[in-house]
Amino acid sequence: MNDNRPIGVFDSGVGGLTVAKEIKRLLPNENIIYFGDTKHLPYGDKSKETITKFCKKITKFLVKEDCKAIVIACNTATANSLEEIKEAAGDVLVIDVISPVAKKVAYELNQNIGVIATKATVNSHAYKNCIRKHNRHLKVIEMATPLLVPIIEEGFRNTSISKSTIETYLAHKKFENIDTIILGCTHYPLIEKEVQAAFQGRVKVIDSPLIVVNELIHQMQKNNLMGFTEEPNYHFYFSDYTENFAKLAKQFFGKSITLELKRL
Ligand code: DGL
Repeated sequence: MNDNRPIGVFDSGVGGLTVAKEIKRLLPNENIIYFGDTKHLPYGDKSKETITKFCKKITKFLVKEDCKAIVIACNTATANSLEEIKEAAGDVLVIDVISPVAKKVAYELNQNIGVIATKATVNSHAYKNCIRKHNRHLKVIEMATPLLVPIIEEGFRNTSISKSTIETYLAHKKFENIDTIILGCTHYPLIEKEVQAAFQGRVKVIDSPLIVVNELIHQMQKNNLMGFTEEPNYHFYFSDYTENFAKLAKQFFGKSITLELKRL
């Protein structure tokens, strides 16, 4: 039997759209509810307590909307509030963006792994801890790159501003010998090409959204949660209107989506 309840996805802003887009691509017959907490963006500079407070509210909202699974499409939320989110979700399946990626990277041909992420993710060492839990021989070098989220949210991708910021961060000496890079923030796939260009093909960039959605599919199959809706519904909630959010949501999901302001 099909379970046609929606999959809930959330992030502080547009970043989680990179994961939602991959869900739509690989699960084209599933309904999706997305929550972008644009009012409280960025999460990456906030304290664990504050991030957890926002995430719990959003999770409870998605549970109330009858979501069958919740994807935390935010590394900062995962790194700081995973247990609290799971608790707020109750019986609802929760998929995070760090553990599937860490596991995959730990068992592949990578030795020196660089991670770029928000300050709150880097300070938690979630990637280093999670990767080294699987393979203690790997070197994991984490770097906070806090200017990237505002650049992306303000629509400055593919400009001289994004180019010089990315190049300055990635030229850091501690990334000299990395063979792999994890984009440890769901906003960063939006600048993946620019990251690749900065490394001139020298470093493998991990496709996190694909890994995360494969894990979602695996868990949904295991828990009998697969649905089939001929014409699925894509409902986007945001806590504050931003031009960029509406533009990107439409660009990724088409014009017929529902966009709704929702203050929690
Ligand atoms: N996209 C988020 C992440 O993956 C958070 C960005 C932010 O709000 O600072 O960490």
